[in-house]
Amino acid sequence: MKYYAGIDIGTTGTKTVLFDKNGNAVASAYREYPLYQPQNGYVEQDPADWWNAVCNTLTEVTSHIFAKDIAGVGISGQMHGLVMLDDNGNVLRKSIIWCDQRTQNECEEIEHTVGKNKLISITASPALTGFTASKILWVKNNEPQLFSKCAHILLPKDYIRYMLCNTFATDVSDAGGMQLFDIKNRRFSEELCHLLGIDTAMLGKVYESHEITGFITEKAAKLTGLMPGTPVVGGAGDNAAAAIGTGTVCDGECFATIGTSGVVFCHTKGYNVDPSGRAHSFCAAVKNEWHMMGVTQAAGLSLKWFRDNCCGDADNLAKERGLSAYQYLDSIAKESGIGANKLLFLPYLMGERTPHLDPNARGVFFGLSAIHKKGDMVRAILEGVGFSLRDALEVLKENGVSINRITVCGGGAKSSLWCSILADIFGMDVCTLSITEGPALGAAILAMVGTGEYKDVQTAAKNIIRPRQVYRHSPQNAEKYDQLYQLYKSLYQKLKTAFTDLSDI
Ligand code: XUL
Repeated sequence: MKYYAGIDIGTTGTKTVLFDKNGNAVASAYREYPLYQPQNGYVEQDPADWWNAVCNTLTEVTSHIFAKDIAGVGISGQMHGLVMLDDNGNVLRKSIIWCDQRTQNECEEIEHTVGKNKLISITASPALTGFTASKILWVKNNEPQLFSKCAHILLPKDYIRYMLCNTFATDVSDAGGMQLFDIKNRRFSEELCHLLGIDTAMLGKVYESHEITGFITEKAAKLTGLMPGTPVVGGAGDNAAAAIGTGTVCDGECFATIGTSGVVFCHTKGYNVDPSGRAHSFCAAVKNEWHMMGVTQAAGLSLKWFRDNCCGDADNLAKERGLSAYQYLDSIAKESGIGANKLLFLPYLMGERTPHLDPNARGVFFGLSAIHKKGDMVRAILEGVGFSLRDALEVLKENGVSINRITVCGGGAKSSLWCSILADIFGMDVCTLSITEGPALGAAILAMVGTGEYKDVQTAAKNIIRPRQVYRHSPQNAEKYDQLYQLYKSLYQKLKTAFTDLSDI
């Protein structure tokens, strides 16, 4: 029997799963690591933490299986993070990751140098604090001595590829999030890199996601338990990988994920751009196809923040009832009703991307009164994240993207309450899947295709992905949520200048 390893370098931890060709997980391991937040808006991680997590999880899963039976490795990971290496391949500084918001000045510099329209025409987005280009310029402007030593620029999962195979490479789906990539033509834009003073020689070689990019070195084999020479395919950014792992591989197919961030993602056969840049268009991990997606910065993160900071007793109360902390939060949110007793939550704890593109936006509970209990606040968070995903869905629809099917995935899909709320807020039935490994499965499927187990990702997805449960929407609930959504939408417009004022203080 042959097995395939999918490695997902997430923001809270790395998950490594071994699958057989039918997508059955035969071994799985997970390791968490910290986020470093030295200042408001700054978010960094240590690439050494990712690598240790990859070595530990691979060692754990390979202890269950003969390493020679592992036919291929796929990597997926958080997008946009900046990893800089010197000439000897040493990491120069902690990685500035996707949710870091420090680069407003550099975004202005990029738009001034390139021009907003040209930037959108090449990269499909206006300059974004989350994307890699502005992070590179920030280091250039603020740490010039360090920048002068930089020889290689890599994304998080591509740093892991370097450690596994000693190659500098990336894949089309993740490279698109660097804002240096010509999305339509699937290659780095020489013109853009030249205008921004970034040497393309520093960027890795670009592959389609299923292509073999390198082989496990002797050194990496000793640290991971894999066989030297095992092929490693291009892999994908976490969202493009989740698309493969949820079977979102044809026109009209869409998934909504609630992980740390939240994403609404639609596969598009052709290239399609939101002219105002509110949603992103990237290359899909499917050869010569694309996708459009909208991102809310703090989805699961909003609930985790509330659990960690405002629910000191949740763990004990959950234990008493034989529940996990999140199941307990669900149970108290169920006691509240639609609209959380007239309480709304804006989930802008990390600024916001779709549709506002505003790093200064901040979280808000609106309508708090003395009647509100913790359950109302949890429910308002679940609904607020749902409204922010609806915002993304509306932008995709405005751009003519067809949506026939929505799958819910990520940690949030474990909550049946959250899935029902999403179905009602979207006004569409949603489904969950029987295999919930999302990006890790997607990465492993890419390895299956790259090593010849399946002829293409569509065939693999058809064989492997099965729905688990359908959550039907209720037209009456959808109508109530529509009314609340209109109010939710108006709140950002009313608070926009106040968010900027707060940031200027
Ligand atoms: C996508 C994005 C996040 C990260 C972290 O543009 O920033 O989804 O990939 O998961």
